Amino acid sequence: MKQKYYITTPIYYPSDNLHIGHSYCSVAADTMARYKKMRGYDVYFLTGTDEHGQKIEKKALDAGVTPQAYVDNIVAGIKRLWELMDVRYDKFIRTTDDFHVKSVQQIFKKLYDKGDIYKSEYEGWYCTPCESFWTESQLVDGCCPDCGREVVKTKEESYFFRLSRYQDRIIKHIEDNPEFLQPTSRQNEMLNNFLRAGLEDLCVSRTSVKWGIPVTFDEKHTVYVWIDALSNYITALGYGTDNTELYDKFWPADLHLVGKEIVRFHAIIWPAILMALDLPLPKQVFGHGWLVIGGEKMSKSRGNVVDPVFLCNRYGVDAIRYYLMREMPFGSDGNFTNEALLSRMNSDLANDLGNLISRTVAMIEKYFDGVIPPMGEVTELDNELIDLSKEVYNNYCENMDNLRFSVALSEVWRLISRCNKYIDQNEPWVLAKDESKKARLGSVMYNLAECLRIVSVLISPVMTTTCKAIAQAFSISDELLTFEAASTYGLLQSGQTVVKQPVLFPRIDIKKELAELGGDSEQKEEKKDKKEKKQEKKQEKQPEPAAEGLITIDDFAKVKLMVGKVLECKRLEGSDKLLVSKILCDRERTIVSGIAKWYSPEEMVGKLVTVVVNLKPAKLRGVLSEGMVLCSEDKDGNLALISPEKDMPAGSEIG
Ligand code: MSP
Repeated sequence: MKQKYYITTPIYYPSDNLHIGHSYCSVAADTMARYKKMRGYDVYFLTGTDEHGQKIEKKALDAGVTPQAYVDNIVAGIKRLWELMDVRYDKFIRTTDDFHVKSVQQIFKKLYDKGDIYKSEYEGWYCTPCESFWTESQLVDGCCPDCGREVVKTKEESYFFRLSRYQDRIIKHIEDNPEFLQPTSRQNEMLNNFLRAGLEDLCVSRTSVKWGIPVTFDEKHTVYVWIDALSNYITALGYGTDNTELYDKFWPADLHLVGKEIVRFHAIIWPAILMALDLPLPKQVFGHGWLVIGGEKMSKSRGNVVDPVFLCNRYGVDAIRYYLMREMPFGSDGNFTNEALLSRMNSDLANDLGNLISRTVAMIEKYFDGVIPPMGEVTELDNELIDLSKEVYNNYCENMDNLRFSVALSEVWRLISRCNKYIDQNEPWVLAKDESKKARLGSVMYNLAECLRIVSVLISPVMTTTCKAIAQAFSISDELLTFEAASTYGLLQSGQTVVKQPVLFPRIDIKKELAELGGDSEQKEEKKDKKEKKQEKKQEKQPEPAAEGLITIDDFAKVKLMVGKVLECKRLEGSDKLLVSKILCDRERTIVSGIAKWYSPEEMVGKLVTVVVNLKPAKLRGVLSEGMVLCSEDKDGNLALISPEKDMPAGSEIG
């Protein structure tokens, strides 16, 4: 029977669109799930969304929609993102799912009945305009972190979970099971900073938050944050329902993958809840590092988020997945820069791997009419390559097993580089000139193609398309692409025909690309400085607004503005900047806009935009544009579409 493997990501807050930092965790989990599947495990991969709470309630209110409608919309976008990034989960749980709600209510009641939950009073800071409670540490300069206004100390009736009761058992569990919490550095962090300092009981209900799971025996309370969110790992498997088949099979989890800031919840609170429920603990919690920008965590409030949809559309999903898994050690933070991404793409993907594939295919086409020759006599050089392929395979497994994705990939690239060197050492172009060396030339070709077969298997958990392109290039059958088959050298069948692939990783002119992207943060600063200076100068020169600079209401009335709905959108061929959209307003109009840097065609579709409909049509790069989509521009030249604040029918007039 297959061994089971249950892996989870955290469930994401659907309060905003996800950024590349969120994708990092999901791509890692997906990579691990694929790797384990390849190794023969029966894998269950869970992800989902954490949909309750004050923040969502408030955002929905601001947007004028119900919290449910608000989250439904964002969750749909999150699912599209995982589809785009080839993140193949087995289940997507939403904490608003009926079965989850019921099961959490049961868990809460069970803990209450056992005496692990009791009623008391929560003391915190309240922001009246935001109707929000904050803890002391959440305040910013003593004020509300959301609106910056004054807060008042308030008391609220709450239920508490007896976390303190489990302190010693958790300490013992971490000390006795070093594998439970990884990387090791996180163990000391938890033990020294929290556990040994003494745990306080945890507030687990609220009366002021309505968008939450009601406590069945005290309906003015809703379950607050962690019991709701953490329970997803078992409710998703059917715990607390009539059908516990998946729970019985997959619990305890083999791996909870979480970002470092939520390790505390997974390594202390979650085990305590499970202990209180008399359930087994997960086998491992792994706290990965953050993707940072200029040393700061990526976050919407800091305005430094990087959009994964943009990156995937521009550079390809495999390149982004590769970069995420290769660039930094999994347990540590890593700085995201466009420059690092582009240079990895050029060096590792275009130069090393892309080149190796295209050179090998081209040489087999040229010297052997496209048919893979057999492996002839084995020389010293061949033996070195064969030994290395075995060494790489073993090191790869050891590193993947320990979530050292970056090292595992660097091992694969050791083999790729060795192959490129092997070409230079064997000089096939010289061998080809001498008919008596034909068999040797054949061997060289065979070894290259065979190494690429192994490479294809080893990169497949990360690069889900490239591995297929390699298999196609050398007509490799599925049974030779298993993990098992990659451990045996020499299985590739000669006599198969090679198939030329389109360029997998085109080389990028990094300077030009960075200029087009607006560069990395430092360059942006420089650019900003220049722009600001220019603006300051402009302001100095400008006289007081003159009466003739103003327009009358009649002038304004000349501009006819309408709400438009984007029906279709694509990039304009040959341009990095322009999108061509089909927009429904008074009628369907084709409109060309210079917004490709900020919006992908996929995310444009369905958007409501503001259209100038009485603009004289103009041809842009051969396409007749019948109007203009309005955008706002910040001082750095970043654009954002102007959309109606509420859902309005296409064709509604603006003015
Ligand atoms: N909803 C909670 C998790 C509950 S799990 C029972 C939550 N959600 S989150 O959307 O804020 O974050 C989800 C995950 O994304 C976390 O593991 C977090 O560490 C990760 N990341 C968010 N920003 C990140 C980076 N910049 N870099 C790497 N991971 C990042 O927390």
